[in-house]
Amino acid sequence: MSSKLIAPSILAADFGNLQRDVEMVNNSEADWFHIDIMDGVFVPNISYGMPVLEAITKHATKTIDVHLMIVDPDRYIKTFAEIGSDILTVHYEACTHLHRTLQAIKAEGMKAGVALNPHTNVNVLEDIINDIDVVLIMSVNPGFGGQSFIENTYNKVKKLKELINKKGASTRIEIDGGVTDKNAKALIDCGADVLVAGSYVFKSTNQLKTISDIKRSINS
Ligand code: DX5
Ligand code: ZN
Repeated sequence: MSSKLIAPSILAADFGNLQRDVEMVNNSEADWFHIDIMDGVFVPNISYGMPVLEAITKHATKTIDVHLMIVDPDRYIKTFAEIGSDILTVHYEACTHLHRTLQAIKAEGMKAGVALNPHTNVNVLEDIINDIDVVLIMSVNPGFGGQSFIENTYNKVKKLKELINKKGASTRIEIDGGVTDKNAKALIDCGADVLVAGSYVFKSTNQLKTISDIKRSINS
């Protein structure tokens, strides 16, 4: 069994001490940096853009996992590659020509991810799953950190895992939103491979220990 991964979400970091928080993740047992880009159109919030991502990639020593919550993401694929993204995830709901978008991401040398909103059935990916490196299942409505986990996520993860197995795909399943020690292990047992955790990590008093504990629990 390959190891299960943790991706702290920088959205919950202290932006006045961004370098410190990036170095905390570098020194932790976390695997990926999860970077949320919001445009105020696809989601009702604006997070940060290219200059902040560049500041993060300058110091980060781990995989940069970029989650685009923006309309028409094709416009920025090249730019996100140039500023150091390793994985670029677009929303299914924001792409009219998803197959073309995924090919464009891969052509820039990045892994291609597809995110699904809570209301989107995993079956919509049936004809394209073999082209996707990571499916990001939103376990909250995208736009904000610190929201409560939606329980139906467990069913979605199981269904998606069945689809991946049926199609013989090597796609990873990533879960994003409301992840804590209360649901982490159960998500892994349903078939998840990567857990994003924002508030749970950054609002804890001992962030390194929080990451280490959750990493151990999902790999036991
Ligand atoms: C929400 C973002 C998440 C968010 C998760 O739109 O995609 O990545 O940062 O934050 P928590 O873990 O606090 O729910
Ligand atoms: Zn995210």
